[in-house]
Amino acid sequence: MPKRKIPFGIIGAGLMGREFAQAAARWPVLLDLDVTPEIVGLCDTNQALFPWYTENFPSITIVTTDYRDLLASDEIEAVYCAVPHNFHGDLYTDIIRAGKHLMGEKPFGMDLEANAKIMAAIANHPDVLVRVSSEFPFYPGAQRIVQAARENRFGTIIEVHSSLRHSSDLDPNKPINWKRMVEYNGEYGCMGDLGMHVVHLPFRFGWIPQNVRALLSNIVTQRPGTDGMLVPCETWDNAILATEVQVDRQQFPMIIETKRIAPGEINTWYLEILGTEFSVAFSTKYPRTLRTMEYRCGQEQTWQEIDLGYTSAYRTITGAIFEFGLSDAILQMWAAFLDELSHGNQMLQPFTCATPEEAACSHRLFTAALASARTASVVEV
Ligand SMILES: NC(=O)c1ccc[n+]([C@@H]2O[C@H](COP(=O)([O-])OP(=O)(O)OC[C@H]3O[C@@H](n4cnc5c(N)ncnc54)[C@H](O)[C@@H]3O)[C@@H](O)[C@H]2O)c1
Repeated sequence: MPKRKIPFGIIGAGLMGREFAQAAARWPVLLDLDVTPEIVGLCDTNQALFPWYTENFPSITIVTTDYRDLLASDEIEAVYCAVPHNFHGDLYTDIIRAGKHLMGEKPFGMDLEANAKIMAAIANHPDVLVRVSSEFPFYPGAQRIVQAARENRFGTIIEVHSSLRHSSDLDPNKPINWKRMVEYNGEYGCMGDLGMHVVHLPFRFGWIPQNVRALLSNIVTQRPGTDGMLVPCETWDNAILATEVQVDRQQFPMIIETKRIAPGEINTWYLEILGTEFSVAFSTKYPRTLRTMEYRCGQEQTWQEIDLGYTSAYRTITGAIFEFGLSDAILQMWAAFLDELSHGNQMLQPFTCATPEEAACSHRLFTAALASARTASVVEV
C-alpha cells in the first residue's frame, strides 16, 4: 500500500535542516511505518544554502527567504524549524497559529518568557502536534534505559548522572558564532544549547528537580570574530547542575552537566542511573555497549557489558548486528514524530519525541540555575 505523504516545510536550512532532509531521504530504511515525509517547502535567510536541497529534493516547490510564505501555503501540513534561539519565540508561535504541526528545535524559546509565549500558542491550538527535537534517547542503549524505567527495575534510586559533553571550544582560536553570543543563543549559554538533550529522559521518567545548585563556567572569554579580531565571548561554556529530585517517597541527587569544554569529548551523551537493585550506564562514546548491574542482597557486585547492535524503536532494514549512529537516532526520532502525527496514541511503539511540557520544565530549571549561579545558593525550581 502506498505510504501517506506528509508535506513538510523546513525553516532554517543550516546544520539541522540538512539532518532532517537526510533522514527524509533515508525513509525507505524504516519497515513498518505507513507514513512518509515529503519536503515541499524550504526557507532560509541565507540563499546560498538552497542548491543542496533543490538539487537533491525535486519535491521542493516553494523556496523562500520569508518563512511566512511557507505558513501561507495550503500544501504544507508540518514544519521543522531549526533557527537560532532568538527567533524561536516568534517563529514557533507563528507556525502554531498557522495551524501547522511543528517539530521545533531546542531550547524551544531563548528564555522563559519566549517559552511561555510558545506554550500559550500551543494551549490555543490543541489540534496542532508540537514536539521538541531530541534524538539521543532513540539510541538502542537509551531505549533499554527507557525500558528499565518502565519496568521500575532500579529499586531505590541512589543517584542519577546525565550529561552532554563537547570539546571543540577548547580551541581558543575557534571563531565565535551565534551559539556563543548571548543575543542569539540566550543567557542560558551551554544549558540552552545542550540541556534539552540531557533532561529529556529524566523528565520523561518523572524526575523533575525540586531545587538546583548551579556551577557555571565561562572559560574562553574572547574568540576571533569574522575579521579575526578578538571579541568578547560571554556565554557559559560549562554547567554543572546539582539537583534534588523527590518522587514516590524517594529523594535522590541528579547531576546534570552540559559542557562545551570537556577535553576529548566530541559529542558524548551519557546517562547513568544507580539503584539499589539495578544500575545502568550508557554513553554514545561506545554506541553499542550498555553497562548494567543487577544486585540482590549479599550477592557479588558485577557490572556487565551488553553488545546491543542495531535494536531500534522502529524496525529497519539494517542488520541487527550493525552499528547505530547519530543519523540513525535522528531517523528514529522523525519516525516517532510522523507516527504520532498520523496515529495519535496508537503509535507503533510507545516512546514519543520530547514534549513542549518537558521543554517548559527545562526552562524553569535553567532559569533557576542562572539565579543559583548569581547568588551562589540553592534555588527552588
Ligand atoms: N538536535 C540537535 O542535535 C541539534 C544540534 C545542533 C543544533 N540544534 C538546534 O537547531 C537549531 C538551529 O541550529 P543549527 O546548528 O542548525 O544552526 P545553523 O546556524 O547551522 O542554522 C540555522 C539557520 O537558520 C537560518 N535563519 C536564521 N534566521 C532565520 C529566519 N528568520 N528565517 C529563516 N532562516 C533563518 C540561518 O541562516 C541558518 O542557516 C537551534 O535551535 C539549535 O539549538 C539541535
